[in-house]
Formats: sequence, structure tokens, C-alpha cells
Amino acid sequence: MNSEPIACIGGPLSAIDTDLLVVPWFEEDASTSVDGVDEASGREVSRALTVKEFQAKPYEWFITPVTDRQWRARRVAIVGAGRRADCGTDLLRKVAASAGVTARSRRIERVTFMVRGEGGTADLVQAAAEGLTLAEFNAGSYKTDEPAPAAPPTWTLAVLDERCEAVTAAAARGRTLGECSNLARELANEPGNTLTPREFAKRAAALASEAGVRVEILDETQIEKLRMGLLLGVARGSSEPPRVIVFRHEPSGAPEKPVLGLVGKGITFDTGGISIKPAEGMERMKDDMAGGAAVACAMRAIGILGAPIRVIGVVPTTENMPGGRAIKPGDILTSAEGKTVEVINTDAEGRLILGDGLWYARQLGATHLVDVATLTRACVVALGKLASGLFGAPDAWVQRVREVADRAGDRAWPMPLFEEYRDQLKSDIADMMNTGGRPAGSITAAMFLQEFTGGLPWAHLDIAGTAWAEEAKPYLPKGPSGVAVRTLAQLAFEKFWG
Ligand code: BES
Ligand code: MN
Ligand code: ZN
Repeated sequence: MNSEPIACIGGPLSAIDTDLLVVPWFEEDASTSVDGVDEASGREVSRALTVKEFQAKPYEWFITPVTDRQWRARRVAIVGAGRRADCGTDLLRKVAASAGVTARSRRIERVTFMVRGEGGTADLVQAAAEGLTLAEFNAGSYKTDEPAPAAPPTWTLAVLDERCEAVTAAAARGRTLGECSNLARELANEPGNTLTPREFAKRAAALASEAGVRVEILDETQIEKLRMGLLLGVARGSSEPPRVIVFRHEPSGAPEKPVLGLVGKGITFDTGGISIKPAEGMERMKDDMAGGAAVACAMRAIGILGAPIRVIGVVPTTENMPGGRAIKPGDILTSAEGKTVEVINTDAEGRLILGDGLWYARQLGATHLVDVATLTRACVVALGKLASGLFGAPDAWVQRVREVADRAGDRAWPMPLFEEYRDQLKSDIADMMNTGGRPAGSITAAMFLQEFTGGLPWAHLDIAGTAWAEEAKPYLPKGPSGVAVRTLAQLAFEKFWG
């Protein structure tokens, strides 16, 4: 919506007028595999391959001038794409993102990326458009002596084998999904003092309503009317009032059912509350609303792309602060649904606000639930930073979400919800406790959430490890990743809704 569309052009390569032509290169490629590239480079490509200066391992980069006067491209870069059989949409998205980041750092103005890989052309085009767009992300800077970041290049996709409307539409779709991922990254990156719950609600509302999604922001009075005691409990320690951001995508002519309900954790800063966190690394807790940002930005994508089904988004948002009026360990809170919770640890706040959020999504008519949350450190211990934890029931629904996540490039791995784990949440005094001890910490957190799903098909993505990259990768700089935006958006377009 804000960004320039990505055009798709056909061959021959020699006719493409661009500052840089980027060609994904497979390990089994011969120098002649991509028509004319070697000759156009004055055989620099052959030379680099022969001396193994370039081996086509993922994200390797070799750039050389085009010497052939018949060609209109000024330079060509080959970018490593691994083995051809492994280069489906997932790898191509990352290859495109890495190429985009490199081209951008060299301030190249017009970049054409050639679509090559295993799979359907439209899927590959979409993935490449997503990758290039992800490369446009600016971390946003409060440095006063730094010039504004350079404008991103103009991207074009070279699609040689097939030119049709489906390809153009796929590029537009990838553009939108990449853009919405970047918007979620911007929100997650914003510090806690600028992105308060009220500010988060305002920005999320603007993003989604621009896309034709109906947005309502519930203030503290409305939240009290709904008796969302879990959210209100967490909010007590803060001088900033809580909000619930409600999104509705209700396309005319859509069936009454299904209604996809997306729920995101919107803690704009998590100090831990009275069970306060150690100082070291606490600054990272500004991204504890990454799940909420993913829901908001997925709703934007759903609006722009016009999903055929109804979708509801619910993002409860508050700070988790210690304060004179803050909840204390041992306190008992009553959820909007009426269930009572003994608060053992005020740092297990995400599950509290999501409990009321899931209930509200059901009130609004959701038939299928997906929640996204930076929920537990235990999930990072279990899966590291490479995959989100995936929980839920029934298995068939969880499996669908998993497949969609895989395709979207948001790797998620299934975790069990064996009934026996639920015992860990048993309280002596209330319906349940909000923590289940250290063993299986991400599982008991998920089981706490399950209590609020009313038996609906439900999937929970624990993105504690995947929302933020601690180390830069060629395709992903340090910082917020925008995880889950594309998965949530894509879910609303799946054929299985029938
Ligand atoms: N937001 C945190 C989880 C988190 C920690 C995400 C580190 C990303 C990086 C969450 O609210 C939290 O504090 N969880 C506690 C739960 C515990 C008290 C049962 C945790 O994981 O330590
Ligand atoms: Mn916490
Ligand atoms: Zn938290």
C-alpha cells in the first residue's frame, strides 16, 4: 500500500535494463546453466566457479560487471542458492532477502532478481517478492548524528518461464506480506516509553483501518465492564491504562462460518512486575508485544488482500510493572469467563492477558483460534531461536497451522499437551495457578491458555525465541523478525475452509 509494486519482466536476460541483475546459483549449475550470464560477464562467472571463489553455498555473493555491450544490465551478481532440490520457496525467500540486503548496502538503485527454484512459479515469485521486501526493513534509529537510511532499490523480478496474471498477482501478494512483516518489526522495535499500550492501540488501529479492517479500541472502562480481571490484574502495576484492540474483517458475502480468531500478546514492556526480572537483558522486553503486532499486521494484510472469510483479531495490551497497586504473588484474579487464577508469579503475565483475550475472541464469534505470544523462556530453551513452539488441539488443526507456517517461512515445531501436565497448574485455593513450575514450562503455559479456548480448535505459537534475532544472518539483521505475520495472514486464504 505504501511501497512501490514489484514488476515482473520476462526474458531474454540481455534485454533487461537494470543496474544489477541477481541470479540465484545452484551448486550443480554449470557455467552455462543460465543463458548468457557467463559470456556477458566476460567469463568471470566460469572463472569464479573454477577456482572455487564461488561455490553456490546459500547466500554466497559474487558480483561482476557486464562487459557484453549487447546486454542492458550494468552488473550481474550470482547469489548462492544451495542445491537445486533444496531451493523451494523457503530458501528462495531467504536468498532474495540476503541479495536485497547486500544490494541495498551497496546503494544500487535498480535491482532485478531472477526467479529460479523448485516449485510452482507463482509461489516462487511470491517468496522472492517477500524476501526483497523484507530487505527493506529499517531498524529505525534515534541516533541524532546519522543520516536517514538510503531509499531501498527499485526491485524487479525476472520471470522467464511463465508470464501471466497469476505471476503479477503473486508478486503483489508477496510485496504486501513482506511490507506487513516489516510493519510488525517496526512496532516490536519501538521502545516501551514511546510504544505505550495506548500508542500501540492507536498505531495498530491506523495500520488495519487503512486496509479496510474495522477496528475498535476498548478502554479501561469498557474492559472493566467486560470484567476482564486477568488483563486488569496485570495492568494494575502500571500508570498506563490497558487497552484491547479488536479487529474485524467481515467481507460482504462471506459465509457466517468459519470465523478465524487471531489473538496476540501485547505486553508493551515486561518488567516481570513484583516478581521482577533481573536487570541484565531486561531492555529486550520491549518486544513482548511482538505477538500482538503480528496479529495487527496480519489483519492489515488480510484487509489489503481481501481474504474470503471472516477474521477477528484481539490484542490485549498493557505494561507489566511493579507498583504500589500491582498484583502480588498469592493474589487471586477472576477472568472474564469466571475462572479464578492464583497468581504465583507476576512474570507469567502473558497467559493472563491472553486468557481474557481468547475468551473475548470466542464472544465475538470465533470458530477457530490461533494465538501468538512471546510467552516463555522455556520455549527458547527447548527450541532455541530456530523455531516457534506450536501447541494446540485437535491435531488436525495444529497440523494445518504448521503447514501454513512452514510455507510462510515461519518454522514452527509441535509440542505435546499430555493431560498429565495439567496437574502442575492445580491450585489449593483457586481454579488454577498461573505457573506450573520449571519442568515443561512452555507446555504448562500453553495448557493454561487452553483453559480459555472453550474447546474450539486452537493453535498457540510461542514466539519467545523467534521474535527477535540476537545475531545477524545474511537474510535477517539483528532485531525483530516479524515472525507469524505471514502465517496468520495466509491462514485466512487456505483452501481447507472450503
Ligand atoms: N515475556 C516473557 C517471556 C520471554 C522471556 C520472552 C525471554 C522472550 C525472552 C514472559 O512474560 C515471562 O516472563 N515468562 C516467564 C514465565 C515464568 C515466570 C513461569 C519465563 O519464561 O521465565
Ligand atoms: Mn513475563
Ligand atoms: Zn511477558
